[in-house]
Amino acid sequence: MNIPIAKVKLTKKEINSVNLPLKNGWLVQGPKVKEFEKKWCDFTKAKYSIAVTSCTAALELALVSIGFKQNDEAIVPAFTWISSANVVEHLGGNVCLCDIELDTFNIDINQLEKKINPKTKAIIVVHLFGLPANMDKINQIAKKYNLFVIEDAACGFGSLYKSQHVGTLGDIGCFSFHPRKAITTGEGGMITTNSKKLALALKSLRDHGAEISDYRRHVSNKPYVLPDFPYAGYNFRMTDIQAVLGSLQMDRAKKIINERKKIAKFYDIGLSKLKNLDSPIYNQTYQNSYQSYPCFLYKKKLNKYSISKILKYRNSIMEVLQTNGISTRPATHALHMLKYYKNKYKFKPSDFPNAWASYHCTISLPLYNGLLRKEQNYIINHLSQLIE
Ligand SMILES: Cc1ncc(COP(=O)(O)O)c(C=O)c1O
Repeated sequence: MNIPIAKVKLTKKEINSVNLPLKNGWLVQGPKVKEFEKKWCDFTKAKYSIAVTSCTAALELALVSIGFKQNDEAIVPAFTWISSANVVEHLGGNVCLCDIELDTFNIDINQLEKKINPKTKAIIVVHLFGLPANMDKINQIAKKYNLFVIEDAACGFGSLYKSQHVGTLGDIGCFSFHPRKAITTGEGGMITTNSKKLALALKSLRDHGAEISDYRRHVSNKPYVLPDFPYAGYNFRMTDIQAVLGSLQMDRAKKIINERKKIAKFYDIGLSKLKNLDSPIYNQTYQNSYQSYPCFLYKKKLNKYSISKILKYRNSIMEVLQTNGISTRPATHALHMLKYYKNKYKFKPSDFPNAWASYHCTISLPLYNGLLRKEQNYIINHLSQLIE
């Protein structure tokens, strides 16, 4: 067997759809981007959706749109993909890391308030691996201190917090269409907001700061009238070639999410007898759409002395699985131990012990649309033999 960590599964119609903009000649942001954005609004119930080139671009624009500037601070969980924090650095700001909860891998709301100071402008909350963060508490704290909430929902397509789609609970939501996500456009991202003011700024900022888009100008009766530019914006526009692919996948969005949930459920049941492996939590309040399936190893035995032992053990499991054709990964990074952040902020491993432990003691299993039951059984059997 050869089971990758993730795999893209597109229909023939979706694959062929990219020919459409190539044939009709409108390749850049145009009608297909608009169509994709409309379907995104319908699915997430966001008032405004703005397609961009990646979730990283979305996060950066989100910060620019709220007026984030040099020396401002944003609170970011210490366990996440590096770009949740990099965008703060790009704008000359400072990252204030907050540790996570071991059970959810999401920001520890009990530590959040202590991180706030007069320079804090925003909380970048991550719905990591698709599991929603505790948005009621986060919004409550943000309101108390007058902070913006930016949801990094890169992994959150199809995830619901109290029946509401993630990315629509804070001020701005940011999604990713990287191929490891449920819906892909190669690279790509989407911004959601319910604020008209922010939506207008974001639309302009992604398009060099222009007042109206190229497409709108071209289809108007005065295409020769050039727009003004109220912002020094970016070129973070999604192409129609990407958008047509995303738009068609939206037509089977529910099916895509349901299949991922079923795959996760099959793992939940198959792995439940393993006392030394904790599967991701799931309940009705926090509905996970399973961008990935991170498991914690030997959580009950975890202390500062056992981490290196568990790490060694975890790595040996990953190696045996790989030689048997099963790809796995550590769940994600502990940001404070990545060179850039360690050097700039002089962090020590013990500064964010849960992020540090999660980096060393987790293993993500293959999860993608099209993963077969027999492949899952093969994974479960191998893992069971290795862990017991
Ligand atoms: C939590 C999180 N934030 C941000 C990103 C960045 O997304 P993109 O690759 O679309 O820029 C990712 C990508 O994996 C992610 O997992």
